[in-house]
Amino acid sequence: MSARKITFQHLIEYEVVNTSNLFHPQNWALLSAGRIEDARRFVVVDSNVEKHYSAAIREYFAYHHVEAKIVTFPGGEESKTLDHYLAIAHELDLFPIHRRDEPIIAIGGGVLTDLVGFVAASHRRGVPYIKVPTTLMGYVDASIGIKTGFNFNGNKNRLGAFHAPQMVLLDKSFLLTLPRRHILNGVCEIIKLAVIKDPCLFHLLETRGAQSVDAHFQDEHGGAILDRAIEGMLEELEPNLFEEDLARKVDFGHTFSYGLETRHEAHLLHGEAVLLDILLSTVIARGRNLLTEEEMGRIFHLTDTLGIDLNASLLDPGLLWASLTERTYHRNGLQRVPMPRGIGGCVFLNDINADEIESAVKILEDRINIEHEII
Ligand SMILES: NC(=O)c1ccc[n+]([C@@H]2O[C@H](COP(=O)([O-])OP(=O)(O)OC[C@H]3O[C@@H](n4cnc5c(N)ncnc54)[C@H](O)[C@@H]3O)[C@@H](O)[C@H]2O)c1
Repeated sequence: MSARKITFQHLIEYEVVNTSNLFHPQNWALLSAGRIEDARRFVVVDSNVEKHYSAAIREYFAYHHVEAKIVTFPGGEESKTLDHYLAIAHELDLFPIHRRDEPIIAIGGGVLTDLVGFVAASHRRGVPYIKVPTTLMGYVDASIGIKTGFNFNGNKNRLGAFHAPQMVLLDKSFLLTLPRRHILNGVCEIIKLAVIKDPCLFHLLETRGAQSVDAHFQDEHGGAILDRAIEGMLEELEPNLFEEDLARKVDFGHTFSYGLETRHEAHLLHGEAVLLDILLSTVIARGRNLLTEEEMGRIFHLTDTLGIDLNASLLDPGLLWASLTERTYHRNGLQRVPMPRGIGGCVFLNDINADEIESAVKILEDRINIEHEII
């Protein structure tokens, strides 16, 4: 037998760009990647964004003489399906674009950018695309990494690919029309980063978070919170874009949440599930003396101050254990559960057992129920 080894290195480069007035004709950001002469763009827009920007988007491309096919997509987890993937792939097939210099443009929340990202990853085995997040979840998390995909067979993100965007365009004014529940949904991912790696961000949230939530992050401190959260996220993602290292700090809050959001897809948002996981993990960490009573109190107090509603009745220990078991497959046979060590520190646990989860659930349920009574 003879063997010939093939080695090829592929450089990943993309820009995360802050911009404003994205659809103003003088703003070139949307067209700054790819050809602009005699050009076409396939644009997928979240239907709730389209409501507000339909005319502006059309006028933008018309002004630049770019032929744009604008496809509207309904956001929400229930749209993250094979059928929706196929529908977009089909539309794209009917509107041929150049393979290299006419990037697909995805404008919407995490569901849309994940799904359209996978269309881009698979169309002709990979074409460029640009992400424009319009939810806070997208802004601080889903849009700035390279994961794409959709839910399949009752499993979240089961089919997908790593496919880097050509560019991510951040315009925080999209958050102005986002319902409060979805603002808080994104805040849960910011809390995650603050607890596991950034005590200064935690302090900012404690002191300015509620005000920034009210201002939909358009205020000065809101801007600082977003910048810090994105920088922290990128610090974690950049050296490990393809998740070769499966012990990831950014997986904090993403172990028990998997089962919760799968079972309760209709009434639990991704971030809400992540927050329940963060609090359960906080209780487990306290049980192992990784957090002091005061630190645990600060984490609970922060969620109160931000006005995030928690539903303790969803915490079924059997489901949480099954979720951990599933994540252990995902993490190649070890639990690798990120846990806070103090606020801003992180350790990974591999020996959480079902009893520990059950007792943590009891403590968490009591705590959440007491807080509801006080309110
Ligand atoms: N790829 C990643 O690394 C990554 C990271 C985190 C989350 N995610 C994924 O992100 C998804 C959740 O994202 P999401 O919370 O943005 O959900 P989403 O895309 O469903 O958007 C939430 C809701 O907001 C609406 N909306 C979007 N922009 C709006 C705006 N500007 N004004 C008013 N309404 C608007 C949508 O129509 C939808 O109803 C999950 O599927 C999760 O798996 C992916």
